[in-house]
Amino acid sequence: MITLQQLNAMPHEQFVAALTGIFERSPWVAERVVELRPFASRLQLHSAMCKAMDAAGEAEQLALIRAHPELAGRAAIRGELTPESTREQKGAGLAACTPGEFAALHELNLAYGKKFGLPFVIAVRGHNPSSVIENLRRRIANSIEDERIEALRQIGRIAGFRLVDLVSAPYGAEILAMSDELAQFSDQDDALTCSYLTAAHRATAAKIRDWMLAAGMETSIDAVGNVVGRWYANTEPARMLLTGSHYDTVVNGGKYDGRLGILLPIAVVAEMRREGIRLPYTLEVIAFAEEEGVRFKSTFLGSGAIAGKFDTAVLDNLDATGRSMRDAMHAADLDPQAIAAIARDPKELLGFVEVHIEQGPVLLSEDRAVGVVTSIAGSVRALVSIVGLAGHAGTVPMNLRRDAAVAAAEIVLAVEKRCSGTPGLVGTVGQLQVPLGAVNVIPGRCEFSIDIRSDDNAVRYAAFNDVVAVAEQICARRSVKVEIRKMLEVGRVPCAPRLQRHWSKSIERVLGTKDIRHLASGAGHDAMVMQQITDIGMLFVRCGNGGISHHPDETMTAADAEIASLVFKDFLLNFYATES
Ligand code: GLV
Ligand code: MN
Ligand code: MN
Repeated sequence: MITLQQLNAMPHEQFVAALTGIFERSPWVAERVVELRPFASRLQLHSAMCKAMDAAGEAEQLALIRAHPELAGRAAIRGELTPESTREQKGAGLAACTPGEFAALHELNLAYGKKFGLPFVIAVRGHNPSSVIENLRRRIANSIEDERIEALRQIGRIAGFRLVDLVSAPYGAEILAMSDELAQFSDQDDALTCSYLTAAHRATAAKIRDWMLAAGMETSIDAVGNVVGRWYANTEPARMLLTGSHYDTVVNGGKYDGRLGILLPIAVVAEMRREGIRLPYTLEVIAFAEEEGVRFKSTFLGSGAIAGKFDTAVLDNLDATGRSMRDAMHAADLDPQAIAAIARDPKELLGFVEVHIEQGPVLLSEDRAVGVVTSIAGSVRALVSIVGLAGHAGTVPMNLRRDAAVAAAEIVLAVEKRCSGTPGLVGTVGQLQVPLGAVNVIPGRCEFSIDIRSDDNAVRYAAFNDVVAVAEQICARRSVKVEIRKMLEVGRVPCAPRLQRHWSKSIERVLGTKDIRHLASGAGHDAMVMQQITDIGMLFVRCGNGGISHHPDETMTAADAEIASLVFKDFLLNFYATES
């Protein structure tokens, strides 16, 4: 094992020699990035090497593809593979194919070679013989040009896996680089929006899965789109500690909300694996597919499924284009029928822990990198639909109008008034539309959302009931119809005192101080849902920029990500031993 720092400082030839196994028998790739040192993260080194590969001439690229061995081929039988290839092919079970699979592979390899004049290259990690065969069958239909591009993409993935095996790098810079890379997948060109089951969302999931594979986890994408990475215990059977957060974002969101709680555990597992550490329990890292409730107005889809609380009625919810969630799932090859089977058995669980940016200014203002969460504020969400009467903006006198938007405006003000002045109580109207509205038409319909939160359930409950009563009065006075549909109600959720204590001890060991900040979360988190089946604990990490979140200016530092990673690793290493 070498460190990124060592690679950055090595003489030219030594650097190339150290990385010679990363791109199969092709040291020229390493050669072309020597001058780009120093690399701030392993991911930056990987992406520089992939760029060098992509920028090479076609002849060099074809030679690189040809440098790869045939899968389960003659070289494997003769033992002539590079050590990297031998390990990889064994890992995919290709050394132990059934005779039928071996024959199919052999035949398809031959046909592939005949059509393209190249060996079939695939990053086999995460595959088994039958999925390799399926890929071969599909790719054989590609054009030569598409297939060259796909082979190079697979070579880039293989290089990524090999780099994680070989090179150790600081967590902080790595986590920030991973966040930057995920932020490239967006539903919008000029902003980060990653909503449930869009193309960007699927690409994000695939990338997360690759990183989990690179870290040595067994991975799968479940029926609701969660990416699940398992790192098995050294003893069987073992109970499981779950960790994770969500990878969807709000519209025009930040790079760290949710994602930090996925990427940080992956980085820590990769390092522990390289160090040869095995935990006495199974660790499962879950990248939840949906938490923000943007596309289908139903939140916590990912953690809800894991907790066995997925409400199948939401499958009929429509997105803004009128497409149902069920339909979007089918299009993404997900099977809604299989969601019920995702539910975890609480008896198998040791708890759920979530690392998340604070999304507020407390840690920043007190100059602290991390804090322990005590509880998560409860929230209620509703969709309000008002129906008035549309009419001509130029002809209907003001006193004869039944304007839905004006009624909505009064209700928005009522939400603000009712939720002001009570500590910890907040109310927001974040979506507000006049569907099919036009500049010269009196609004006949208006739809908007209400989100009310408080750390005190009774306070929240009373505020929501008052808002509903006032909304009904306003609409009666204005002769418009109102329908208020509650979409979500979650009570305040406490974090388990024992997990809070473990976080505190880990912070104390890492930072050498007993002065530890405990704080409540105003934002909602997947941990709220997980608390229905197991104990939860959360670690907050400082945000920059005044603590802004749900905004593109959301930020955090590599130094804080590093500290949080060390705290997380200490937690993993110690919490079980001191409990059992
Ligand atoms: C999630 O980010 C929420 O608090 O709404
Ligand atoms: Mn969020
Ligand atoms: Mn979040």
